[in-house]
Amino acid sequence: MKIIDARGISKSFKDIKEDKPVLNHVDFSMEEGEFVAVMGPSGSGKTTLLFCVSGMDTVDSGRVLFLNRSLSECGERTF
Ligand SMILES: Nc1ncnc2c1ncn2[C@@H]1O[C@H](COP(=O)(O)OP(=O)(O)OP(=O)(O)O)[C@@H](O)[C@H]1O
Ligand SMILES: [Mg+2]
Repeated sequence: MKIIDARGISKSFKDIKEDKPVLNHVDFSMEEGEFVAVMGPSGSGKTTLLFCVSGMDTVDSGRVLFLNRSLSECGERTF
């Protein structure tokens, strides 16, 4: 069973001049009990991705399901 199922997530950070895209339509999912390592160069968006799929930050577009529920519709007391 998928615990986390993210589809097409995008996120940018506001720079002084313009938006800086960090995640661009990323798909990410994890099965229950699965062990996942996220690898990539510094600044490539690993922490941003993990924050977005864990609900510690929000996405600009796309959707993140946690146990089949959309994180954007969950509150602090949902689970
Ligand atoms: N809160 C923030 N405000 C503005 N820009 C940010 C913020 N967090 C991350 N960024 C920018 O987003 C990009 C991705 O950063 P992120 O921290 O996700 O990379 P990372 O892959 O985790 O890097 P590292 O391996 O160094 O931990 C970088 O260009 C970073 O400067
Ligand atoms: Mg990091």
